[in-house]
Amino acid sequence: MRHRIVLILGGGIAAYKCLEAIRRLKEHDISVRCILTKAAQEFVTPLSVGALSNERVFTDLFDLNDEREIGHIRLSREADLIVVAPATADLLAKMAHGHAGDLATAVLLATDTPVLVAPAMNPKMWQHPATQRNVATLKHDGVVFIGPAVGEMAERDEAGPGRLVEVEDLVAEVRQLLDSGVQTTAKTDLGSDALTGVHVLVTSGPTHEPVDPVRYLANRSSGKQGHAIAEAAATLGARVTLISGPVDLAAPAGVAVINVQTAAEMHAAVHAALPADIAVFAAAVADWRASKSPRNKIKKTGDAPPTLKLVENKDILKSVGTLKSNRPPLVIGFAAETSNLIANAKKKRKAKKADWIVANDVSEDSNVMGSDHNQVHLITEAGADRWTRMSKREVARKLMKHAAGAHAAAHKKTNE
Ligand code: CTP
Repeated sequence: MRHRIVLILGGGIAAYKCLEAIRRLKEHDISVRCILTKAAQEFVTPLSVGALSNERVFTDLFDLNDEREIGHIRLSREADLIVVAPATADLLAKMAHGHAGDLATAVLLATDTPVLVAPAMNPKMWQHPATQRNVATLKHDGVVFIGPAVGEMAERDEAGPGRLVEVEDLVAEVRQLLDSGVQTTAKTDLGSDALTGVHVLVTSGPTHEPVDPVRYLANRSSGKQGHAIAEAAATLGARVTLISGPVDLAAPAGVAVINVQTAAEMHAAVHAALPADIAVFAAAVADWRASKSPRNKIKKTGDAPPTLKLVENKDILKSVGTLKSNRPPLVIGFAAETSNLIANAKKKRKAKKADWIVANDVSEDSNVMGSDHNQVHLITEAGADRWTRMSKREVARKLMKHAAGAHAAAHKKTNE
């Protein structure tokens, strides 16, 4: 087997999904050693986990046999990556505070192996300031998070951020981390304070332009790329303002989110959030809105269908790129293209007075819209740099690392 991971299962209804994750990881030639917390054993049994992983399952810190054969130190050190899924609020709290009272937490404390956490809990528990504090602490320590996803909960009438991410997304993130040599995601590489004291403004998601009270114009943007950028900036210590259109994503921890619906609202929110040191325009802003949005629903009349008259929305990126005063020193735009990618992206950089453009091919064949992966070119004054295909989270980390480097270099210059 190429890679070895330790999977720590916490106690939550989502633990059953991790049985599927074990199977899928093994299909990818990844060996999975599992640790079950006491609470996890209320949801899945060591027997089923052992049968799927084809490995011995670990549950108890004080099993002398285990201590002799493979103690918690060895357990953690022999892994390329430790994955905690589902990570409950209780487990996150223990991790953030360095508890080591059971095997799972002792393994996590006794290691410098990179850790990936997939939280799953009730939305109120996730949004609680105590949990958000713990998440921020763990991110600062270099722990990588995936999710939670937004949606219905197992409890009746509960919805919001707190679902375990889909198994395929979890498996893709594990693979991505292993393939990119996981240590690159640890805090040492990212420099968890590279953007301390820096204000980063990010737009994300689509905008919804009303046609009447029940209909709107929208696009296929999921917001995954923009949210990942906000998250990566926060991980590097930045103060982040995320201005987001309607998306089904949880607010990244430690990020101030301003929710908007329309391009006009996004434009106003962006300008109200200035000044910023770095501004990233990842939103798929609607280019047009309906010229009128009547107060009542447009009804069928039996005659010809109504015609929709469109008017152009303000270009938010351009309005910031061309600011005479208060312009963020680093303005980064995106270019979504279906043809002539580089040439069109270069034109956009000039026309909108952006410093950098992240160009991506959104043609149907590229499978970018809504997906977790992206293949981009970074267009700067110096030219176009092709990045290999990677997850949107990796694109976000790489972009924010570059931005942190540029910010530091510019600062050094002004201080000289
Ligand atoms: N953008 C913006 N405000 C708009 C339209 C686009 O801020 N009203 C920003 C996007 O966030 C992105 C960049 O401009 O950073 C380019 O967006 P894109 O959709 O690729 O280009 P458009 O300018 O809309 O041009 P076209 O659709 O004609 O390619």
